[in-house]
Amino acid sequence: MSVTHRYREAWEGFWNEATGEPGEVFWDTEPALTAGPHLAIYEPYVDAPALPLLDLGCGNGTQTRFLADRFPLVVGIDLSSAAIELARRQEKHQSELRRKRRAEWREKTSGGGTPAARAPGGHLPSGEIRFRQLDAVDPDAVARLHGELGDCNVYMRGVLHQCDPKDRQPLADTIAVLVGEHGRAFVVELAEAAGPRLAQLAQAESGPPAKLLPVFRHGVVPGAVPDAAVADLVHTAGLSVLASGDLPLTTTEYEENGSRIELPSTWLIVGRNT
Ligand SMILES: C[S@@+](CC[C@H](N)C(=O)[O-])C[C@H]1O[C@@H](n2cnc3c(N)ncnc32)[C@H](O)[C@@H]1O
Repeated sequence: MSVTHRYREAWEGFWNEATGEPGEVFWDTEPALTAGPHLAIYEPYVDAPALPLLDLGCGNGTQTRFLADRFPLVVGIDLSSAAIELARRQEKHQSELRRKRRAEWREKTSGGGTPAARAPGGHLPSGEIRFRQLDAVDPDAVARLHGELGDCNVYMRGVLHQCDPKDRQPLADTIAVLVGEHGRAFVVELAEAAGPRLAQLAQAESGPPAKLLPVFRHGVVPGAVPDAAVADLVHTAGLSVLASGDLPLTTTEYEENGSRIELPSTWLIVGRNT
């Protein structure tokens, strides 16, 4: 099984239009407000930090690059080839910037062999980063990926609520295959309460926030997964919920009063309870 043609095309269309400007995508918030706080919750539950980390549905890879600081190998997976191309382009650009800053810093300090990661503004992710196009609800592709990488840790933000209802259980099953016996997954999704808030934003007198317009135009509108359903999908996939909670999902859009628009989200840490 795989996603429908309509769904795949919707994501291709969306990512084909993205330019890669920081903050242009509604949910593409700086990692300091996103994967950073998630990692602080997730890391204590990761029993095997040497395993690769898969960022499932990585989009343009903003969070993937941040995660590469903490895991030896991070692989961003996305259905959309346009998203993967953009993620690769951004990574190339960022690594060139890092190389330039390191060279400038070495020149200023006349060498001396100090680790480049300590160069001002020259922060280096310590892990390897790869990006790959893959449909996470295609069980054959997922089995091949697990065969190649073995058990993985998994980070998944904002994919379940977007996918077609028929793909929700296959997506949870995919997480179960990928974490295997030793991995742990951090799953963060819009909460049920995000639905009414998004409807309110869409119907605002002044019109919807500009960054929501491409989301509507391409039909990748956030869906509603009932809060309790997420844990049910995980249990049906044979996994246990090891911890869960709520967090605001900070977007790149602003309220009229200048504060960031936040949506309610819920997170779960899942794995085999061994
Ligand atoms: C709302 S975006 C979130 C992107 C990223 N996780 C983030 O937090 O910025 C959802 C992403 O999931 C991807 N996606 C949706 N269904 C997928 C599937 N079946 N397999 C892989 N990626 C998928 C989409 O292409 C899109 O890039």
